[in-house]
Amino acid sequence: MKKIDDITLSAMIEAAAGARANSYSPYSGFAVGAALLADDGMIYAGCNVENAAYPLGFCAEANAIGTMVMAGGHQIKAVVVAGPNADICTPCGGCRQQLREFVGPEDMPVIICDVDGNLLLETSLSEMLPNSFGPDTVNAVKDAGESL
Ligand code: THU
Repeated sequence: MKKIDDITLSAMIEAAAGARANSYSPYSGFAVGAALLADDGMIYAGCNVENAAYPLGFCAEANAIGTMVMAGGHQIKAVVVAGPNADICTPCGGCRQQLREFVGPEDMPVIICDVDGNLLLETSLSEMLPNSFGPDTVNAVKDAGESL
């Protein structure tokens, strides 16, 4: 797994903090920001956006992925998540799977920082989602024409 250089990491932490500042989280009061480094070298950020119909809310990571895809990014090289306090805010299970969709053949760093931008945890997607189900799993069957 490729390590992220310090300048890029700082830019990602700043982007995640900036996104967090725009969080719409009136129901949980739990503001989250996420920043993705994409294969095009760009950083894409997102915040959580909640809804009065609670299950319709979106996580910060999911919105960052949407921003990346919309802008033409194809692969995620690293993720930074910024939580609202001093505790470790790791991506929820659903977001781990959504991130998995856009990870290349190499694993990728997942970096968690606190509300002040301090690093709390450096892990990887494969550590957070071992033995994952992904596009290759589905495509192997589709490509072989084995379905049904
Ligand atoms: N949330 C995220 O945006 N990302 C995570 O990784 C964990 C949880 C949001 C969802 C909801 O708006 C709030 O945090 C509380 O769960």
